Amino acid sequence: MRQPSESELSRHSGESVRAFSGAEQGAAIVTGGGRRVGAAIAMMLAGRGLGVVVHYGASSDGAAGVVREIVSAGGRAVAVGADLREPCRAAEKVFGAARELGPVTVLVNSASVFQDLALEQVDGRHCDEHVSVNLLAPIFLSQQFMRQLDAGSRGHIINLLDWRVHRPGADHLVYTATRSALASVTKSLALQLAPRVQVNGVAPGAVLPPEDRPDWHQQRAAEQIPLRRTGSPRDITAAIGFLLDSGFITGEVLNVSGGEEL
Ligand SMILES: NC(=O)c1ccc[n+]([C@@H]2O[C@H](COP(=O)([O-])OP(=O)(O)OC[C@H]3O[C@@H](n4cnc5c(N)ncnc54)[C@H](OP(=O)(O)O)[C@@H]3O)[C@@H](O)[C@H]2O)c1
Repeated sequence: MRQPSESELSRHSGESVRAFSGAEQGAAIVTGGGRRVGAAIAMMLAGRGLGVVVHYGASSDGAAGVVREIVSAGGRAVAVGADLREPCRAAEKVFGAARELGPVTVLVNSASVFQDLALEQVDGRHCDEHVSVNLLAPIFLSQQFMRQLDAGSRGHIINLLDWRVHRPGADHLVYTATRSALASVTKSLALQLAPRVQVNGVAPGAVLPPEDRPDWHQQRAAEQIPLRRTGSPRDITAAIGFLLDSGFITGEVLNVSGGEEL
């Protein structure tokens, strides 16, 4: 199969996607792969020769577009919708869709909910959604990942986290708690799943601003990011590529934040 070229795979995210020589075996799953950073990760993994399961929640059009782009560039991809607020059922559905592409050797948990409620406004629904999507879904997806991984195969699980796990602020109370819990899970699973599977985290900083706060990241760059600039999805895909290329890093949380956590 022809490998998609870098330019073919760069259209969707607007980011340059690193192309690697030599096709990798198997398939990858990217949760929340229908848009934004998740879409860029899906493109990057396709560029490495992996078949890609593009998971989405509401972004069915976005996911279909990512799949179209990968397939038209010569890659393999399928889209699957699953609501991560029901994490166990969603994990089964996502891995069911993956069978079409072969054994999954890379799982990237990118989907998350990111809402900011002060203590007084926090309610059960807010907590349930954050815990299910941000913490339980990666756990059940990791469980499915291990159930289907061949005894002789190696793999990678990469959890998207947040620099806030190192220095929680007053904002995003429940979100930050679930991200910190996932950082803990990352280290526990690195121990539990070694030596076959490397489990790492990538902790982004100001990469893409929330759609309802387009100026927020620029403000942070000016006031509190030591490198005085924002990042891009390309910085995240490069970090993930680096972790996938390493055979000797596990249980690590790689900050891609311009130093904001310092
Ligand atoms: N962007 C940044 O600057 C930044 C900074 C720090 C950390 N991060 C982390 O990096 C990752 C990617 O960032 P992003 O900005 O691209 O995230 P985002 O825009 O907030 O996207 C979140 C993704 O999660 C999916 N999702 C949310 N709830 C879901 C549900 N119930 N069921 C299924 N899917 C659900 C959404 O899918 P649908 O749209 O299909 O529903 C969406 O693709 C996230 O984990 C985020 O927390 C990003």
